[in-house]
Amino acid sequence: MNTLLPKSRVASATEMLEYVLPQHANLYGTVFGGQVMAWVDLCGVICAQRHSGRPCVTVFVDDLLFKRPVRIGQVVRLRAQMTAAFGTSMEIEVSVFGEDTVTGEQWPTLECRITFVAMSDELRPTAVPPLRLDSDAERDAHVGAAERRRQRLAKR
Ligand SMILES: CC(C)(COP(=O)(O)OP(=O)(O)OC[C@H]1O[C@@H](n2cnc3c(N)ncnc32)[C@H](O)[C@@H]1OP(=O)(O)O)[C@@H](O)C(=O)NCCC(=O)NCCS
Repeated sequence: MNTLLPKSRVASATEMLEYVLPQHANLYGTVFGGQVMAWVDLCGVICAQRHSGRPCVTVFVDDLLFKRPVRIGQVVRLRAQMTAAFGTSMEIEVSVFGEDTVTGEQWPTLECRITFVAMSDELRPTAVPPLRLDSDAERDAHVGAAERRRQRLAKR
């Protein structure tokens, strides 16, 4: 039985800012997709570890669609928040925006969901605190996450 105390979504919400430098860019002067994926994974795992209080590993990344590029000299803003906590796994939604700090323009770049698993000291999956659901939007997000989890596990 999971005896851990529920935690709110706000408690683990995570924001990261990255300034796009030449070493992050592809041949077109825009940020390399693999670099954005690494930042997404990092932002997500910080959120997962804040919620679970354990080191976490990435177990599943949903589809990624890059909607609009971010150029050298612009900023990548990432925001991760829990959508659901299950037994030992958590679904986390990471939203990515581009930002031009000179003009103030901001635009959506990417949104994805990642499943992380909390690990024990013996390197086995370990229980995570339940997610406290404080609004109808959070309850709806949890229902969606549970259905996606069912579909992911069916593919194993
Ligand atoms: C994560 C890992 C420990 C899970 O091991 P396992 O033997 O599958 O363990 P379990 O079957 O007990 O599953 C553990 C959790 O992962 C979830 N899980 C496993 N496969 C999954 C998948 N394809 N999609 C979503 N969740 C999955 C299970 O549902 C379970 O969560 P729950 O307790 O909330 O139901 C193992 O798959 C692993 O080490 N993978 C590699 C992780 C890695 O190296 N990541 C990259 C670097 S961080």
